[in-house]
Amino acid sequence: VHVLSWCIYLLSSTMCCTMVSGETTFRSTVRAPGARKQVCVPVLEHFDTHYGEQLGQRWTAAREVLLHPRSWQHGVMLNRFAAPQDVREQLLLQGFSNLLPRSSGSSLQCFVHRSPVHVPSQRHQAGQLKQYYLLNAASLLPVLALDVREGDRVLDLCSAPGGKALAILQSATPGVLHCNELDAHRHEWLVKTLESFVPQTLSDVLKVSNLDGRLFGKIEAGAYDKVLLDAPCSNDRSWLFSGRPQHGALWLRERAKLPELQKDLLRSALEAVVPGGLVVYSTCTLSRAENSEVVQDILSSCPNIELQELNELALSFAHHFTFDPNTPFGLLVVPDYGRTWGPMFVSKLKKLC
Ligand SMILES: C[S@@+](CC[C@H](N)C(=O)[O-])C[C@H]1O[C@@H](n2cnc3c(N)ncnc32)[C@H](O)[C@@H]1O
Repeated sequence: VHVLSWCIYLLSSTMCCTMVSGETTFRSTVRAPGARKQVCVPVLEHFDTHYGEQLGQRWTAAREVLLHPRSWQHGVMLNRFAAPQDVREQLLLQGFSNLLPRSSGSSLQCFVHRSPVHVPSQRHQAGQLKQYYLLNAASLLPVLALDVREGDRVLDLCSAPGGKALAILQSATPGVLHCNELDAHRHEWLVKTLESFVPQTLSDVLKVSNLDGRLFGKIEAGAYDKVLLDAPCSNDRSWLFSGRPQHGALWLRERAKLPELQKDLLRSALEAVVPGGLVVYSTCTLSRAENSEVVQDILSSCPNIELQELNELALSFAHHFTFDPNTPFGLLVVPDYGRTWGPMFVSKLKKLC
């Protein structure tokens, strides 16, 4: 008899469920994520000033969600290479549903729940691929916008820890998927993620490097059909809990420098695609300076770059995500009551010639 017990505690209620099947044992514990996390006051004050003005009433909900990590939701992205049929069935039994409608025809499966359910992450086991990866479901939007097809040559310019690279491989088998990460420690983390989820049979598709993404426009000009630039950004969720006030002051100084780095990376990404190629730019911050303004600057300085519509994508996910209607040059997912996904900004650009 195979035994798999999975206890899921709905943090918003006292409901607890245990399920039996499969060979592995997953056990979650009642957890109060972030209960001991300390809010960094200078960061919160900065958000109140900037996001209050930028988002109006929407900031009230986003602020409340971001300040209460207990309410944060996680998506469970299945690993198609580990045939996780049993996990899929357990999730459905527990009231999870697939974020991607059947009609989408996508092989990417990410299960979400209406309530903030804590699902444990899987431990590495030698010789076994992990069956699922936990992520903020809004992180899938950049991958869906990139729309990778079989055989595409794809560059994931800022790739660690590798969640979006995995999502690309769940959607299709590219001809090449080049995952790059500048930071040495995070590069190691990326390699481990890929080893834990991707079978050896795909080793000739995958390439991993440890370079500054700003170099790719020169060293690999025109080498790719599609580039994902999931840019280094303020990362609102983590910086809000960066602890001591002096960390906040440091962050505010670093934050001011990010748009220049993001524009350099975006120019490099655009140089790395063939004419007709596509670049998706994404961040996990609400900051207008790091989102719309970066894209606006590129569009006004590069006449061969055209902004692509993402209306269909927004429509398909309108049930799950709250989009800010006033964000130009892309989609902005704003955390909301009961839809705590985001922040996530996505913009899609085409190189005409
Ligand atoms: C938002 S994270 C990427 C998350 C990743 N795409 C995922 O889905 O798991 C941005 C990454 O960019 C890396 N980075 C920062 N500056 C870079 C640069 N100049 N070139 C390449 N990567 C860089 C950071 O170390 C960080 O790991």
